[in-house]
Amino acid sequence: MDGTAAFLGPEGDRAGRLPGATRGDAALAVVGRSDCGRSSLVRAGIGTLCVMSPVNLETLRLFLHVLAATVWVGGQITLAALVPALRAAGTDVPKAAAHAFNRVAWPAFGILVLTGIWNVVAEGDKGPAYQHTLMVKYTLVVGSGVTAYLHARVASRKAMAVLGALTGLTALATLFVGIMLAE
Ligand code: HEM
Repeated sequence: MDGTAAFLGPEGDRAGRLPGATRGDAALAVVGRSDCGRSSLVRAGIGTLCVMSPVNLETLRLFLHVLAATVWVGGQITLAALVPALRAAGTDVPKAAAHAFNRVAWPAFGILVLTGIWNVVAEGDKGPAYQHTLMVKYTLVVGSGVTAYLHARVASRKAMAVLGALTGLTALATLFVGIMLAE
C-alpha cells in the first residue's frame, strides 16, 4: 500500500479503493508519505494524523542544545554528588575528577552558546514576554559561565564553596528558564 491512498470513509472513496472493499469497510488506513515529512500517515475519517513526528533541522537543533545542557548541568550535579566519595579516595582525587569533567563541560558550554544563538535566530521575535525571558536567560548563562570559570581558579576553600553553589544554582536556573522559553 506504499504511497497509495485507501481511505474509505463516510465521504466515499475519493482517494482510491482497495480491491474488494466497499464504502464504509475501512475508516482507517496507512496512506504513505506526504505532509508529515518522512513519517507514515494514517488518514481517518476526521482528518490526517502523523504516525511519527518528522525529523528535521529543528529536531537536530534542540537535540544538540538539550544534549549539551545535560552535560553542563547534569554533570555538575553528578560531580557534586560524587565529591564525598572522591575525597574519601584521596585528597587530590576530586581535583582530578573536576579536571576531567572540565574537558567535556566547556565544549558542552560552547555548544550551548552556539545552538542557543541558532535557537534565537530560528525562533524569531515572539513578543516582549519572550524577549524579557531571553534577557533573564542571557544573564543566567553569563553567571553560570563566569562562576564556573572562577570556581575552578580560586584558592580559598570559602570562595570555592560560594562559587560552587552559585555555579550550580545559575546552571539550574538557566535550565528552568530554557524550559520556559520552549513552552
Ligand atoms: C547554560 C546554558 C544553557 C542551558 C542549560 C540551556 C537550556 C535550555 C533548555 C533545556 C531548553 C529547552 C529546549 C526544549 O525543550 O525545547 C532551552 C531552550 C532555549 N534556549 Fe537554551 N540553554 C543554555 C544556553 C542558551 C544560550 C546561550 C542561548 C542564546 C544565545 C539559549 C537560547 C535558547 C532558546 C531561544 C530556547 C528556546 C528554543 C525553542 O523554543 O525551541 N540557550 N535552553
